Amino acid sequence: MRGLLILLSLACLANAQHQALIDYLERRLLAIEDRISLWHEQITRYASELRELKQQMVSQLENLDKEKETLRTSLDSMGSRVDRVERELDYLETQNGAQPCVDVDDKLIEQQVTLVQEKQKAKYFKLTDCSDMISSIKAMKILKRVGGPKGMWTKDTSGASKKIYIFNGTAEDTINEFASVQDLTRSQGFSLSSDLKLPSPWSGTGHVVHNNQVYYVSRAEEITVVKFDTRNNSVTDSAVFPLQDHVPVYGLTSETLMDLAVDEEGLWAIYATRQNEKHISLAKMDANSLDVEQMWDTNCPRENAEAAFVICGTLYVVYNTKQPGRSRVQCVFDVNDMVTTEEAALIYFPKRYGSHSSLKYNPQEQLLYAWDDGYQILYKLVMKKKLEI
Ligand SMILES: *[C@@H]1O[C@H](CO)[C@@H](O)[C@H](O)[C@H]1NC(C)=O
Ligand SMILES: *[C@@H]1O[C@H](CO)[C@@H](O)[C@H](O)[C@H]1NC(C)=O
Repeated sequence: MRGLLILLSLACLANAQHQALIDYLERRLLAIEDRISLWHEQITRYASELRELKQQMVSQLENLDKEKETLRTSLDSMGSRVDRVERELDYLETQNGAQPCVDVDDKLIEQQVTLVQEKQKAKYFKLTDCSDMISSIKAMKILKRVGGPKGMWTKDTSGASKKIYIFNGTAEDTINEFASVQDLTRSQGFSLSSDLKLPSPWSGTGHVVHNNQVYYVSRAEEITVVKFDTRNNSVTDSAVFPLQDHVPVYGLTSETLMDLAVDEEGLWAIYATRQNEKHISLAKMDANSLDVEQMWDTNCPRENAEAAFVICGTLYVVYNTKQPGRSRVQCVFDVNDMVTTEEAALIYFPKRYGSHSSLKYNPQEQLLYAWDDGYQILYKLVMKKKLEI
């Protein structure tokens, strides 16, 4: 009996212990559940906060993009304004341009003096007289803006006078003659010039003035070179150029069928014909009789060419490059076979406005007279000896 009692109380004790354990476990479970739901809450809160942050970032990135865009456009317009200001400055410089022009002219007088001295020697050393080639373009001076987009301007290339001649347009008959470069820069438009009326209209921009004679290209049935004396306003001579089927000599200057040039050796004609229409041809002319002395087919393409000039028997053809506003000598033809295109291919022109409608070399001054979209520009050349390469 006693044994049974002990057994019962033991069982009771075990039961009570068991209950306490279950209670304890239940409490723990509840606590864990509480904590899990707390975590759950926190995670959802973090997730939504993260979402909000992401949205904010996206909209801020969008704003940044917009700001970048407006910055870019304002930079662009700033760039073009700087360009414009540069042009205006150049232009203003030409308006107050007396100073630099006098500069050029002083140097010219010096050059002419040394030239006269050197001429004495040159008579005896005709073969070595002219061996210059361009080394680079040293400076550019915008002298004026007068006339239309296409035209030609030049000084008398013989040094016989200081007069400046302006052929405005590509099919006119009246040249504007200025007494000097200074008069041109001082003049309001053409007000200080006198008119020189030709007996027939000129064609293109390929003319020269040499030794008081205007040599202009006239186009009736055939291409004619007319020689016109500026002192008594009369035609001295004229000659039909002995070739038919002309095509415009430069791909980019369609009005100019034939171009004339003067260098140290005299008068040259630059032209192209249908028989050899991919390339430019060159002829040496006699400035007195207008006879053609010799002709060459060059390897210089017409395509993309805008102008050309001759220096010491070397034809330099100037092409438009892919960079906007840049022209470059990209082909050279030397009648003496001394200058190659590789040697001259690095001659770049400074930034310009449009396209050169004419480039006229003055052997007395070693300057190029350029007409660029109505601007009259001077390029100063640096020379080197052909033999020194
Ligand atoms: C210059 O030529 C252009 C076109 O060829 C013409 O429109 C302009 O009136 C001319 N300028 C003057 C001042 O004669
Ligand atoms: C004009 O002058 C040139 C050169 O002095 C001369 O050869 C020509 O005969 C003159 N012409 C006229 C019509 O006087």
